[in-house]
Order: sequence, then structure tokens, then C-alpha cells
Amino acid sequence: MLRLIIAVLLSSCAAWPQALRSLKSVPTPEPADLNTYVKDKVALVALGKALFWDMQAGSDGQTACATCHFHAGADHRSQNQLSDQNRPFPVNSTLDTASFPFRRFADPSNRGSEILSDSSMRVGSAGTFRRVFKEIVPGQAAELGEDMLDRPEFIAAGLQVRRVTVRNTPSTYNAVYNVRNFWDGRAARIFNGATPSGSAADAPGLLVARDGTLRREQVRIDNSSLASQAAGPVLDHLEMSYAGRTWPVLARKLFGLRPLGLQRVASDDSVLGPMARAGGRGLDDRFTYLNMVQAAFQPLYWESTEVTDGFTQAEHNFPLFWGLAIQAYEATLISNDSPFDRFQESNGIALTTQEQDGLRFFQTTGRCTQCHGGAEFTAASFTAAGQGRNAGRAFQRTGVRPVEEDSGSGNGNFKTSGLRNIELTGPYFHNGGEATLEQVVEFYRRGGNVAPNNNNIRPFNVTAAQSAALVAFLKALTDERARFDRAPFDHPELCVPVGHREAQPGVLAAGGNAMFPRSAAEKWAGLPAVGAGGHPAPLQTFEELLKGVGADGSRSHALNDACSVPLP
Ligand code: HEC
Ligand code: HEC
Repeated sequence: MLRLIIAVLLSSCAAWPQALRSLKSVPTPEPADLNTYVKDKVALVALGKALFWDMQAGSDGQTACATCHFHAGADHRSQNQLSDQNRPFPVNSTLDTASFPFRRFADPSNRGSEILSDSSMRVGSAGTFRRVFKEIVPGQAAELGEDMLDRPEFIAAGLQVRRVTVRNTPSTYNAVYNVRNFWDGRAARIFNGATPSGSAADAPGLLVARDGTLRREQVRIDNSSLASQAAGPVLDHLEMSYAGRTWPVLARKLFGLRPLGLQRVASDDSVLGPMARAGGRGLDDRFTYLNMVQAAFQPLYWESTEVTDGFTQAEHNFPLFWGLAIQAYEATLISNDSPFDRFQESNGIALTTQEQDGLRFFQTTGRCTQCHGGAEFTAASFTAAGQGRNAGRAFQRTGVRPVEEDSGSGNGNFKTSGLRNIELTGPYFHNGGEATLEQVVEFYRRGGNVAPNNNNIRPFNVTAAQSAALVAFLKALTDERARFDRAPFDHPELCVPVGHREAQPGVLAAGGNAMFPRSAAEKWAGLPAVGAGGHPAPLQTFEELLKGVGADGSRSHALNDACSVPLP
């Protein structure tokens, strides 16, 4: 009898939708056969954190992964963040509260009502300028290159701005739970050691030292969507790279530079603190990226001194080190201690009555758990039943935009977002077209922006009190460690570009860079290094940024501090 009950319980657990629960109950997914490649996981995480935050990784010596993932794992900048794949759009414009929502209805609760305004633009993230790679200079973070002006977008009156991604930046926090990453799931679950696709056809194979000779060997590392993902942006000439840069070249540049050499690292950083260079920038003299690779990975992958096509074994195998190290670091970015988690762990007072009302609405009338279920709040997670690309509710069509603008993983399906820390990661949806959670609730209330949709997106009635309760509940999914950048979310110093200077309103200013005369002059904001204890002030939300709340120092990351990094 007991066995039967257990069997029934287990099978009901596996079915979708899954019950909401504390994220502390879910083990962190682990890459398969990690020990084949890695000898020290602590060293691996340190390497990953340094690489993720290092501005020297970009071709310009200014762009890190973190440039677009600095804010609760996402990006809340507001200038030069727009792009549009389908139509011309204004470069370098600044978003404000009046810019949202992107599709505005006469009656926001009725999708059939008149459309007052509409925009096919995307709030993405500013990456790098369109330039061609020439060569690296030893000891220098900025690479040599040339302006490339072959495309009309991101150019005004002959001057270039930083190019902007065509989708909104999702958070790296809790991304380790996704079977596949990216809005369309194209970062494969299997890491091929070279690209996001997972396909052996795209990977030359690693150089492995066996019996004294180097041989090419294919790799297939399972449960490694984050490693697949990380292999994408760093050579992408919209995000971090000049066109034509390769992995061994990137490795040679980074092996010759002090890790994080431009940025300060807090002495109490939860990972890098003991390695930080006291009173200076970067890690101390004991550390190079090469010896950090050697500390983390098995010798088979780096020990040979043989030179192949002009590069060492360690330089050739850099995409393996890059992918697995960044994945290991991102796997530490787990926010499982929100008021909601504590409530589930049966601390009945962790949610207010209003938040509990919102939780009930989320599970019943709102039908939100049909897709945002389980501890991860998404059917795209490992614990969800369906694991095929479009199986279960992992990828769904919610009708944010017409399918012909962006078909996502096919037919207008996009990855169901996890909702943790959602208060901090606006704007929302793959197009970044909603600025506030109230706007998101209105979106669902009218059954999405465009038809036809998945069956579970149906208009519902909601009172003002219920709507406020639902928003309050969504805000109870914020982990205070994320809100204050406390460990494991602490980070090195970073400067981010926050739009371009204008000579007069609407006219870009020249003189941004001596090597690249076509680049428009830039504005930068500094984010100070923060240690394990976090900032005294909470992170600014996107909504607060648009309203100017927090510019007085009452919020962190308000993007109005000067940049003190010596920019190359
Ligand atoms: C120029 C801005 C930019 C830079 C630089 C950048 N990203 Fe992203 N990141 C994005 C955008 C935009 C997406 C979503 C793209 C898509 O899904 O098509 C994304 C998606 C992701 C995701 C997937 C999250 C999810 O839920 O699907 C992860 C993880 C991630 N990036 C990590 C990284 C890492 C690691 C690096 C450095 C190697 C990096 N990013 C560099 C903008 C950026
Ligand atoms: C049919 C499945 C489905 C249902 C039901 C659903 N969602 Fe979603 N949700 C998604 C998908 C898919 C996305 C990403 C859509 C996109 O960007 O195109 C998403 C995105 C979101 C986002 C934005 C996340 C981000 O980081 O940008 C929020 C907030 C959200 N949903 C809340 C809710 C709430 C609240 C409900 C219930 C009222 C709900 N969802 C019901 C599938 C669903």
C-alpha cells in the first residue's frame, strides 16, 4: 500500500505542470564526465568568474560577458539599446516611461480594442562596433582592426554606434537549470567544445596528448548548455568580437595579460578575493590565465609544448576551457532563498497575505503555473517532464509579437522564462517591450498581444486588488542576495557603455577612438567592485531607472557613477 502511494506520488511529480516549490529542493545539474577534463572544480569556478567579468576579453579590450549581464544577471541600460531586424530605427535613442509598452491598446484589457501605437523594435544590449580584426599586440587588451561600414544599421551620418542585439538579454542567474539556453533554445545541451550548436560538424575537435602525440578528438559533453552558450558571444561580431577573430588568437591575447588587469577586485570577493592584487587592479602576480587553466584542467589538454599551425595546445583548446569554466561559474549563480522559498520551507510568515493571494491567483485564475511551474518557475528546466526542444511547455507561443518578425524556436515559440528576481530584470519578454510587471499582467489579462496563441493564454478577469497581489507575489521571488549583489552574486569592478555623445541634439559626436575614426564618441558608467557582503543600497530596477529613482545613491547600479577603469 505504502509502495503504491509512493509510486503515485512519484508519477504525479513527473507530470506537468509541476507544483511550485523551494529551489533549495533541486540539485544543481552537473555536466557529464566532468572529471575527464577537469581536475579542480574550485580553480574552475575562479577561472570562470575572471573570464566572465574580464573586459579584456572583447576585441576592443572593453567588452566582457558581464557588459550585458551585470545587473541581476541581466542588463537595465536605457540608451543605445534599440535594434530592429525588420525596419529602420533611430540609433542612440534613450528609452523612457513613455516608450512602453511597445503595443498600446485603447483598452489594455482587450486585445480586440484599437491599437494606439506599435513598435517592432527590440530592447537589446549594446555590444561592440562593427570592425574587422587585424591582429593582437602582445601585452595589449585592445586589438588592431579597421572600421567596417558595409551595413546601414547602427550608423548615422557616417558615424557608427555600438551594435545592439536583436533580443532582450535574459538573466544568467538560475540559467543552469535550463535544458537549453537562449530564447529559442539554440545553445545545445551537448557541448561540442567549440560552438553553441552541439553539432560535431561545427567542431574541429580538441587537441589531446596521447602517447606523446597530439590528435584531434571530438567531444560531446552532456548537460552543458551553458558551455555551448558561452562559446557564442565571444567571437560574435555584434557582441564582443571584431569580425575574423579566432579562439587561439583570443587565447594568446588573454594568456599574455594580467587576469582582470583593468578592473579592481574586492579583497573580500567570495571567489577571487584571496587572489586579488592588493591595492591594485586585477589578480596578483601569482596568476596568469594559462596557469589558472593548468590548475583547473587535466594535463592531457594543455601539457604539450608542440606548436600546431602556429599555436600551442592550450591555445587551440581554449574554447573547452572557456566554456566549461564559465559554465561552472554560472552554476554558482543560484538564487534559492527568496521569501517564496522560505514560505515553501514552511515558514508561514515569509509571505504577506497579499503575496499569498497573488500566489493563489498565479496558480488558479492566472493559469501561470501551466508554463511557469516547478521550483524553477519554468517548464524549460531539467526537472520538467518534457525535454524535447518543443516538448511539454518548455517553448511556448504567447503572442508577444507577430510570428513573422521573429519565429523563435519555430512558429513563434520562445523559451518559458524562469521568473525568479523578475523585479530586477526588466524590461520583459524577448523584445523587451514591457517595462513593468503591471504591464506584463495586463498583457496576460488580454490574452497576449497577437493571436493565435497557445491554449493556456486566454483572457481572464482580474480586479485591481488581485492584479496588485499578483505583482506583489512576483516581487516575492527576489532573493535578497541578488538584490544587494551579495555572494555568490558579488563581482569585480566593471564599466559599461551607456550610449553615445551628441555634438548637438540628435547628432552623434565624432572622436571616439583614434584607431577607428568612424566610431561615435561614447559615454561610460562605472560599477564599483563589490565583495561578499554586497552593496549597502539595493539594485535599481529598470522601472526606477526610467523614472530617475535612485540617482541620489539610494540604489546601486544607477549608471551615473564615473568610470574609473583605464579604458584602452
Ligand atoms: C552584447 C550583449 C551580450 C554580451 C556581451 C553577452 N551576452 Fe549573453 N545574452 C545576450 C542576449 C541578447 C541574449 C539572448 C539572445 C537570444 O536568446 O537570442 C543572451 C543570452 C545569454 C544566456 C542565456 C540565458 C537564457 O535563459 O537563455 C546566457 C547564459 C548568457 N547570455 C551568458 C553570456 C556569456 C557567458 C557571455 C560571454 C561569453 C555573454 N552572455 C555575453 C546579450 C549578451
Ligand atoms: C502558455 C505558457 C505560459 C503561460 C500560461 C504564462 N506564461 Fe509567462 N511566459 C511564457 C513564455 C513562453 C515567456 C517568454 C515569451 C516571450 O518573451 O516571447 C513568458 C514570459 C513571462 C515573463 C517575462 C520574463 C522575462 O524575463 O522577460 C513574465 C513576467 C511572465 N511570463 C509571467 C507570467 C504570469 C504572471 C503568468 C500568468 C498570468 C504567465 N506568465 C503565464 C509562457 C507562459
